[in-house]
Amino acid sequence: MRFVPIFCLREGMVNASDLYGERGELVLPRNTILNAELIYGIRKLKCNGIYVEDDHTQDIPIVNTINSSLRTKTVSGIKEIFICKENNLPIEKEKFVEMEDQVETIVDVILKNKEMMLNMVDLKVFDDYTYFHSVNVAVLSIGIGAAMGFDRADLCNLGFGALLHDIGKVFVNKEILHKQGPLTDSEFMEMKKHSFLGYEYLAKEFVGSIAAQAGILDHHEKFSGGGYPNNAKGEKISVFGRIITIADVYDALTSDRPYRKGLIPSEAIEYIMGGTASLFDPDLVKLFITKIAPYPVGTTVKLSNGLVGVVTDNFESYCMRPNIRILKNGDSKIKPFDLCLADHNALNITVVDFAK
Ligand SMILES: [Fe+2]
Repeated sequence: MRFVPIFCLREGMVNASDLYGERGELVLPRNTILNAELIYGIRKLKCNGIYVEDDHTQDIPIVNTINSSLRTKTVSGIKEIFICKENNLPIEKEKFVEMEDQVETIVDVILKNKEMMLNMVDLKVFDDYTYFHSVNVAVLSIGIGAAMGFDRADLCNLGFGALLHDIGKVFVNKEILHKQGPLTDSEFMEMKKHSFLGYEYLAKEFVGSIAAQAGILDHHEKFSGGGYPNNAKGEKISVFGRIITIADVYDALTSDRPYRKGLIPSEAIEYIMGGTASLFDPDLVKLFITKIAPYPVGTTVKLSNGLVGVVTDNFESYCMRPNIRILKNGDSKIKPFDLCLADHNALNITVVDFAK
C-alpha cells in the first residue's frame, strides 16, 4: 500500500482502506476504484490523503495509529465541546463522558500495538486545526505515556488532559485568538492565560482527574523555567504537562497553518532535540524520538540524492533513517529496489521531504 496526499489522487487508483465520515459512518469501502466524483467527495472529508493499492507496494502494510473512524468521531466530539463553550452554551457532562470513552478506546488501541511507532501522517488535515490538533496531541501523549509504562488508568487521564489541553482558548478574546499576524505584548499576555483558564474551568466543573487538570495547567511550562503560568521548573512541572508539551510542539510545528507551512517531520524532531533540557524533559525527548515515525510506512519520500521511494519499515533506534523502496529516478522509471538509509552504502543520503 502507498499513502497518497489528497491532491495527488487520480482516477483509476484503488482505495486500500475503509474511509469514514465525520460521524464515523463508512463513506468509502476499501477496494473502491476512484473516479472524479469520488475524489471530489474524498477531498471534502478533510483528510490529508488515503492509502491506495499499488503494484510496487502490495506487500507494504497500512500502519495506522488510530483508524479514521475513531479519529473523526473524537474530532467531532471535541469540536462540539469547543463550539458550545465559545458560544457560552452549557456543556452537558455527558459530552465529557463521551470524550473519556473515546480516549479509552484510543488507549486500548495503542496498548494493543505497544511496539508500533506513532504514525501521525494520516491525522493531518487542512482545516479544523484546533480539533485535529487536540486529537493528535492526545494520541502522541498516550504513545509517550505507554512507552513510559503507564497503566491504562493513567494513560486515560493523560489522554483526556491532552485532548482538552487548549480548552482554555475558548475564554480568550476571539480577535486575539484568530489574529493572523504576530501578537502584541499585551495580546500575548492575554493568550498566555489559556492554560490557567482551561485548568480552572475543568477544576470548577469537576471534569477530569486532578492529574489531567495539572497537565492542562502545565502544558506551556519549560523544563529549565521561563514558561507559563507558574514559571515551574524540572520535576516541579507535572509529568503529564511535560509529556503534553512535547506532543503539542511537535504537532504544531508539523502542521500547515494559514500563515506558514508546517516543518517537515525531521526538522520538527531536530527542534525537539534542540530543546532538550531547556524546553523539554531530556528523558521524555529520548523516549519520544523512539516512538515517533516521522516518515511512516507507506509514505512516499524524496531523498537528498534525487530518488523517490516508499517507506517500508521504521526503526526505533534511528527514526529518521527508514527502509525505503526506491520507485523513481527523476522522470525515468527504474526497477524498484529496497534501500535502508541505515546501511553503510547510504549513510550520506537523507530524507528531505514527503514526495507528492
Ligand atoms: Fe496551549
